[in-house]
Amino acid sequence: MTMSHLDQVAVITGGSTGIGFSIAEELIRKGAKRVYITGRTEKTLNEAQEKLGEKALTIVSDVSKLSDVEKIKGIIEEEGYSLDMIFANAGIAEKNTFGQTTPEEFDRTFNINVKGVFFTVQTLMGLLKNEGNIVLTGSIVGNKGMPNLSLYNASKAAVRSFARSWASDLKERKIRVNSISPGMTYTPIMKNGLKMDDAELTALKEFAVSAVPAARIAAPEEIARAAVFLSSRDASYINGIEFTIDGGYSQI
Ligand SMILES: NC(=O)c1ccc[n+]([C@@H]2O[C@H](COP(=O)([O-])OP(=O)(O)OC[C@H]3O[C@@H](n4cnc5c(N)ncnc54)[C@H](OP(=O)(O)O)[C@@H]3O)[C@@H](O)[C@H]2O)c1
Repeated sequence: MTMSHLDQVAVITGGSTGIGFSIAEELIRKGAKRVYITGRTEKTLNEAQEKLGEKALTIVSDVSKLSDVEKIKGIIEEEGYSLDMIFANAGIAEKNTFGQTTPEEFDRTFNINVKGVFFTVQTLMGLLKNEGNIVLTGSIVGNKGMPNLSLYNASKAAVRSFARSWASDLKERKIRVNSISPGMTYTPIMKNGLKMDDAELTALKEFAVSAVPAARIAAPEEIARAAVFLSSRDASYINGIEFTIDGGYSQI
């Protein structure tokens, strides 16, 4: 095991469960000395802290509220750290019926998935070291069209777009900005956000066997390893990209 992130410091929004939690685990395994993980729910953050140990520090914080994002900044400053990496990963996935979608549904998805990513990075980038890097969690659906997901899909297209522009905006500071686009990944979002019941989850797994070249859905650890690679020096000339991690689903 290479200590590619020895003594590094990272923030991971949405680090309590799923992909964000796995990124935190992987960073600590690779030598990170401090990993700030955020989320709205104290209980799941506490459970994550138990598993990750003392290198993790949990912050109850909603990315859609600017004062909560400022709170993350304040805590890092209090600890006296600067950041090597920012993972703007927090997001929700909710279905919306086109024709009956309410402004509240629109705002919920865009406030978290788009405004949340924007202000997380804008607020924390002053703490990011020159030559540091940023990884945004998009999705393969940002390039796809499918029923009942127009809000979620558009929000992820915006995330991918941020990576392009910010790679230019942060050029002088030699900060790399990349996005990851996971495919179908087994995390709590499937039940909590997409409201899939057990039968629908089984159907999704069967669909993946036939439609995905890798013949299965992903585990969050597989997405995390790719995200952590992007944040490492091994990816030093990779900038502004969309890194697709989907078992080949969107490539064929
Ligand atoms: N699973 C997939 O198939 C898949 C595929 C492509 C992309 N993604 C993306 O991957 C990211 C992580 O999702 P996941 O699949 O790992 O699902 P997850 O397990 O539900 O993780 C989502 C994380 O974001 C946090 N979160 C949600 N809303 C938040 C807010 N307003 N402020 C702060 N934290 C918030 C959640 O905690 P709280 O709910 O407690 O706030 C949780 O820690 C998301 O951006 C998602 O869109 C997932």
